[in-house]
Amino acid sequence: MAKDGPAAGKDQKKTAASNQTVQWWKLPTLEELGQEYQEEQKGKVKKNKAQEIDPWTVEAATDEHGQSLAFDYEAISREWATKLIDQPLLDRFEALTGKRPHMWLRRGLFFSHRDLDRILDCYERGDDFFLYTGRGPSSDSMHIGHTISFEFTKWLQDVFDVPLVVMLTDDEKALFKEKLTFEEVMEFARQNAKDIISFGFDVKKTFIYSDLKYIPYNGGHMMLNAWEFSKLVNFNQVRGAFGFNGSTSTGRIFFPSLQCVAAFATSYPHIWGDDPDSDFRSKKTAAIPCLIPCGVDQDPYFRLVRENAGRMKNKSPKPALLHAKFFSALQGPGGKMSASIPNSAIFMSDTMNQIKKKINSYAFSGGQETKELQQELGGNPDVDVSYQYITYFDDDDEKIAKIADDYRKGKLLTGELKAICIKLLQEYVKRFQDNRAKVTDDVMKSFMTPRKLEWKGNPNPKKP
Ligand code: TRP
Repeated sequence: MAKDGPAAGKDQKKTAASNQTVQWWKLPTLEELGQEYQEEQKGKVKKNKAQEIDPWTVEAATDEHGQSLAFDYEAISREWATKLIDQPLLDRFEALTGKRPHMWLRRGLFFSHRDLDRILDCYERGDDFFLYTGRGPSSDSMHIGHTISFEFTKWLQDVFDVPLVVMLTDDEKALFKEKLTFEEVMEFARQNAKDIISFGFDVKKTFIYSDLKYIPYNGGHMMLNAWEFSKLVNFNQVRGAFGFNGSTSTGRIFFPSLQCVAAFATSYPHIWGDDPDSDFRSKKTAAIPCLIPCGVDQDPYFRLVRENAGRMKNKSPKPALLHAKFFSALQGPGGKMSASIPNSAIFMSDTMNQIKKKINSYAFSGGQETKELQQELGGNPDVDVSYQYITYFDDDDEKIAKIADDYRKGKLLTGELKAICIKLLQEYVKRFQDNRAKVTDDVMKSFMTPRKLEWKGNPNPKKP
């Protein structure tokens, strides 16, 4: 709320939004205060705001002008007490698996973890573990930012050769998005499943499920887990982490229990050959550890499951996590690609020409205004969105270093940098689209049928 009057002794006041000076005895009109002020009042522009991150809100901090700042990932890691991924951890990863860490690990797109070292211990011993990731199907097509955890999880599945479950939280989206009906989200889930399959997952090792379809018919043990889990967690424990209050629907309040227990192996008796009709969940299966690659905004769910896993009747180990940063919007730091802002994102359904146009027109540039200035002063790759995307889609470290160097020295022009980025994104999206065209309804059904999975795990275990 604006103050009623000026401070005593001052006859003039500067408005919050603009530098225009208004005399205090004549109240300014909204027009005089300017658009920025009006937007601030409507709550659109927030000034000097700290970053806010939870499963439903992802907002960067803003400066005194309401301008978004870059996300501070180290601050998130400190605040939530996660561990940053460091070189010794990656060295151990490489020594154990014989695989060079994925460029997204080397370059910090996956920047933080919980207990990844314990998963590596498990792999070293040759013990089983499984991968779990998910997506909230809020629309029928995904943008490039959504695909990061799937592309990466596919790589993890190849490296470790372990089972993977993919949870499609259609229930969550119907509960949390006012406009979406339960019928609509089930269809989105099927379309999204086809998208996910297009990343090349191995059907023998992968189970993809829609909450609304799997849990009522086959997920009896998952539902038992969720009831048992919900009995352990009271409202006070979830209120803060999820921003719930007295008017939150009871569906929303129950939902986190489902996303949490999806990290317990006993939620999928078919996969391990346990009897899904038994009243009892297998103690042995409950002990199988889980690794969850996810966006860091999902961490509040998994803190909750880590706090309570050991309190379940069949104790489960705390699931391990690998946290990804947000895939930056075309407009630059502090923005997150958003499906509801079409020009902020590259969609996996975009044509090659749309990709080119979006990068050329919207990708925030760290280059200079003109060719001459660029050659004289050079550009700044650190804030350049096209450069950042290049680092996410070209595996060649030397090439990337040279691009950055040439750009800084003005040897590479903005248009040339954008052209490199466009080509990489077009290749990524094209490969996806070609694969997607081959995913029939039958292929989708085979991934979504509960069944026993087949995997090998570590071929050279070191038994302690
Ligand atoms: N809640 C997530 C979303 O809205 C979906 C999800 C469920 C998920 N389980 C997960 C994401 C595990 C990552 C890992 O997108």
